[in-house]
Amino acid sequence: MPQEALMAGNVELAANLNPRAEAASILESPMVEIDRLSLYYGPTRALTDVSMSVPKHRVTAYIGPSGCGKTTLLRCINRMNDLVDGVRIVGSIRVGGTDIYDRSVDVTELRKRVGMVFQKSNPFPKSIFDNAAYGPRILGVKSRSDLEGIVERSLRAAALWDEVQDRLGESALGLSGGQQQRLCIARAIAVEPDVLLMDEPCSSLDPIATARIEELMLELKNSYTIVIVTHNMQQAARVSDYTGFMLLGELVEFGVTRELFTNPRDTRTEDYITGRFG
Ligand SMILES: Nc1ncnc2c1ncn2[C@@H]1O[C@H](COP(=O)(O)OP(=O)(O)O)[C@@H](O)[C@H]1O
Ligand SMILES: [Mg+2]
Repeated sequence: MPQEALMAGNVELAANLNPRAEAASILESPMVEIDRLSLYYGPTRALTDVSMSVPKHRVTAYIGPSGCGKTTLLRCINRMNDLVDGVRIVGSIRVGGTDIYDRSVDVTELRKRVGMVFQKSNPFPKSIFDNAAYGPRILGVKSRSDLEGIVERSLRAAALWDEVQDRLGESALGLSGGQQQRLCIARAIAVEPDVLLMDEPCSSLDPIATARIEELMLELKNSYTIVIVTHNMQQAARVSDYTGFMLLGELVEFGVTRELFTNPRDTRTEDYITGRFG
């Protein structure tokens, strides 16, 4: 048990730290580069001068109290905030080296490369098969056998295949909450994105369903770069390689998860992870 965590009185968090997490330095190959990003909802600034890089094939978590801007920051990475009236963004985000706010960027193409899973699972009121096949169909895949291959691969990757292979034609809405969320993950990865954004994906799930999704994230990072928002510090400690702590729209501290939890550099981070506020 790291001495610093004990000193910080944070025994539980230290015990939760994911042993499979990378201890590598932050100089890994970046997939998403956020540079001096500020975001305004009308006159209100929700993000202030955020700069950080999301390393490729790692799990990066944003933590922080409710309302600190985690969802807003996540939604900047696939330009979901474009859909909100009165949003103004300053600064830049590059995904795979491309400035995603450049005029030449096709937002549909961007959202294919940067998939998203939401807080509340939102399968379409269609069959399990049609949910998983949704993205590929939009991209023009028509052949039944191609679609079947993609659906099976995606459901397997989302650890759902064994549970649903005999009822692919049934409504997705008949699945349990945890299965629905894994179906949403399957739907997101069916188009082979580079990045998977997950906004509190387990917040409405029971502990067993949560554990399955957490385990899945550790598998998926071999193929995808994962960015997760969570207000659950134990979850961040368990699944993420890197963690950013946000407060009032600022990224207060970003670093290797183990270091952030055991040896925070900023007193605000320390106060938060030791439960002094938030
Ligand atoms: N569509 C919106 N319009 C105006 N303000 C918003 C909108 N979405 C979020 N906000 C505000 O931006 C701030 C950050 O919100 P959010 O990113 O949802 O935080 P978090 O995900 O950390 O709880 C909050 O003050 C919230 O009220
Ligand atoms: Mg949120």
